[in-house]
Amino acid sequence: MAGLRIFVTWPMEREARAILERVGSVETSPSEGELPAEALARAVERADALIPTGAHRVPPSVIAAAPGLRVIAVAAVGYNLVDVAAATARGILVTNTPGVLTETTADLAWALMLAVARRVVEADRFVRAGRWTGVTWSLLLGDDVQRSTLGIVGLGRIGKAVARRATGFGMRVVYHSRHPDPDAEGLGAVFRSKTDLLQEADFVILTVPLTPETRGLIGKTELALMKPSAYLINVARGPIVDEAALAAALRARQIAGAGLDVFEDEPRIHPDLLALDQVVLTPHIGSASRATRLAMATRAAENCVVALEGRRPPDLVNPDAWRGR
Ligand code: NAP
Ligand code: GLV
Repeated sequence: MAGLRIFVTWPMEREARAILERVGSVETSPSEGELPAEALARAVERADALIPTGAHRVPPSVIAAAPGLRVIAVAAVGYNLVDVAAATARGILVTNTPGVLTETTADLAWALMLAVARRVVEADRFVRAGRWTGVTWSLLLGDDVQRSTLGIVGLGRIGKAVARRATGFGMRVVYHSRHPDPDAEGLGAVFRSKTDLLQEADFVILTVPLTPETRGLIGKTELALMKPSAYLINVARGPIVDEAALAAALRARQIAGAGLDVFEDEPRIHPDLLALDQVVLTPHIGSASRATRLAMATRAAENCVVALEGRRPPDLVNPDAWRGR
């Protein structure tokens, strides 16, 4: 397989790069930022494989510019920025990295939930600003996470990992997915319609993929169903929530707060969200632990190698491209 060319859109970890070098030559983008589509198109002109992060777009123009492309191995579980239809039409395999980031992302969901309910970020700013003059009875009162009701929208890998952590906090767990999940009972999670979940939960956590069906899943109508004391946590994808509607609901105190790791138009954030104390914002770092980043890079590299060797990669997301071979 000498002569195979692989392009990676970030300066890939040495260990993962070594996996790729077993089958071909590897070129990496010199920086971690997203390449403009024209630059990416030039970079993949002679490539057999492309490995983008989940935050890097792969539009049809890039796919069209790469006549030899055989696999796009995304280093993320969410692959919504790749034009999968264009890849499938050309028989290009697309893979992702499910599982390896599940627990790390669930931890971040919990970090957001605890931070916003117990006002951790606000409290830190308060102390650093020199405003703390002594312990007072009602200083920075928050809401309890323990023994409250957790509502998980999308009881998949990450949703289940979030639910498992809720046991230790003595929470009631309700969930909504398109189908009742056989694992739910073991997790103590009870199925609800979306409406019932929104009305019942103290914490609504979004862990669905971004699809045509989930785009705008939480908008003005859904936010109006939530309790004024409830919090919304989004670690899935920004466009699942109508950000303007969320900002309006928060301003009007229609819900109590939000913890957001993902945004509609990253890295831009609705200016109203930046102005609100009852919102905790993180820059899409759900899976950003050292160990998990390495695991994601390794998994993407393994998928890539298997595909280049002509075998079906374990994390194939477009089986039609495989069938059409
Ligand atoms: P997963 O295992 O596929 O879980 C997704 C769940 O969503 C499934 O239970 C699915 O169940 C449900 N679902 C799909 N469409 C739905 C709909 N229209 N309505 C209600 N439920 C729906 O995926 P995962 O590994 O948990 O990852 C979930 C998403 O998290 C990823 O796609 C990615 O976008 C995001 N993510 C973000 C970060 C971050 O850095 N913030 C990190 C990792 C992942 P049914 O099919 O039964 O409905
Ligand atoms: C990160 O956002 C992922 O989808 O893996």
